Amino acid sequence: MDTVTSADSPSEGPLSGRALCRLDEIPDGGATAVDAMLADGEESVILLRHGEQVQAYLNICPHTARRLDYAPGKFLLKNNTLICAVHGATFNQTDGLCVAGPCRGEHLRMVPIRVETDGTIHLAPGA
Ligand code: FES
Repeated sequence: MDTVTSADSPSEGPLSGRALCRLDEIPDGGATAVDAMLADGEESVILLRHGEQVQAYLNICPHTARRLDYAPGKFLLKNNTLICAVHGATFNQTDGLCVAGPCRGEHLRMVPIRVETDGTIHLAPGA
């Protein structure tokens, strides 16, 4: 795996240039979780794939700050929503807005990422 050091990219954190995973490791219409080194430290990040597009959110539910997956990297997905496995809060996959459940109106925290032409997914600057 290629890495980018902070000297190569001074505005990013030391691990921000490392690929989180490859696009083809996520089933189209599916999701996975990866650990990523963000500005605040290492966090679990949800990656949701729709074709060539990927949305990324912290794997932290705004209801009680628990992970949303029912097993590591396994998520409840239905009709373009992501459902927290703990108490059932339902989030739009496209913008992270909670549309039903105990934290309705709150958002998952988006994580800036980019998909490279070689199919690797990286944190974007500011992550
Ligand atoms: S922790 Fe997610 S709905 Fe309660």
